[in-house]
Amino acid sequence: MAEKLLMRALAGETLPTPPAWMMRQAGRYLPEYKATRAKAGDFLSLCYNPDLAAEVTLQPIRRFGFDAAILFADILLIPDALGADLWFVTGEGPRLSTITGQGDFDALKPADAVHDHLSPVYETLKILSRELPSDVALIGFAGAPWTVATYMIAGRGTPDQAPAHALKDTNRPLFEALLERITEATIEYLSAQIDAGAEVVKLFDSWAGSLKGDDFRRYALEPAKRIIAELKARHPGVPVIAFPREAGDGYIGFARETGADCVALDNSVSAEWAVKNVQVDGCVQGNLAPGHMVTGGQPLIDEVRRIKAAFAGGPHIFNLGHGITPDADPENVTLMLETLRG
Ligand code: CP3
Repeated sequence: MAEKLLMRALAGETLPTPPAWMMRQAGRYLPEYKATRAKAGDFLSLCYNPDLAAEVTLQPIRRFGFDAAILFADILLIPDALGADLWFVTGEGPRLSTITGQGDFDALKPADAVHDHLSPVYETLKILSRELPSDVALIGFAGAPWTVATYMIAGRGTPDQAPAHALKDTNRPLFEALLERITEATIEYLSAQIDAGAEVVKLFDSWAGSLKGDDFRRYALEPAKRIIAELKARHPGVPVIAFPREAGDGYIGFARETGADCVALDNSVSAEWAVKNVQVDGCVQGNLAPGHMVTGGQPLIDEVRRIKAAFAGGPHIFNLGHGITPDADPENVTLMLETLRG
């Protein structure tokens, strides 16, 4: 059988129709997701239930026929494994115990805690490797250290990551020790995901854009480079997608410097700019604005055609610039794929 389309694009091949998947493709815009989550009880119980997590991973594949499935889990499972308290407040988001001083850090577990604690996630991947259609690629993921640290320090999502910046600026040794612990845990976690069947892994640095200048290099680029180097040493040939969201000019050279096989683009950069500045180094993913999944219609059709055409001269994976939102209409996902595939 010919290699999966997603793997071909990641290997640098220019395809007539790019492979497609969507960030947060399993989620609350799908009635079948909401039904399965209700069966699990809550979001975290769903993440730790391999049969149900595999089921929600498969739902968007069955409904839409995407070229890739992304493991159903969350970037905050690493803090959970490291011993942080974690819970989700419906309609608001995650809550965690905070890290403000040395004592909070000293209470964390060592990085290899991810092996036992996250074994249900590896089980989900094993189920998916058996059950996915043979032309669909399986993507594993983790949050990048900076993004995970922003939640661990603040104990919640923050609009400007101020608590994490404050810790960085007032107690750099503690901040760097935390980043180091998350980096080590992420290497172990992603490596175990690959052993369990992930064919590609993606590193989500959702808050990379708030790191400026030298901080971007030290806390977004360097950790990604280290994680990728270690994964490449342990698992040669397994591609890595990096997503330094809202990095702006930081996208330039990011793949080259970190060794990532693909850079995912948010929708604040234009496709034309990204072709000249990022796709020159290899595969890019993106970058349709998620709002089109809510509004649909001719603007959605026009945007899909424009993005497809703009990136057509090089390797490209079609995706949104960020996650699909709960108010999206599943019909618009179908329209997006029909437009893309013609
Ligand atoms: O993409 C997928 O379909 C795979 C599963 C996945 C989830 N979260 C499931 C989820 C992935 C890849 C993530 C990544 C994630 N999680 C990120 C990075 C990507 C991004 O969006 O920037 C971040 C920052 C998180 C942390 C997180 N998890 C937040 C801030 C929230 C609350 C906000 C929200 O969207 O609800 C979550 C919850 C979450 N993670 C949900 C899902 C489906 C919704 C939970 C529910 O069912 O109520």
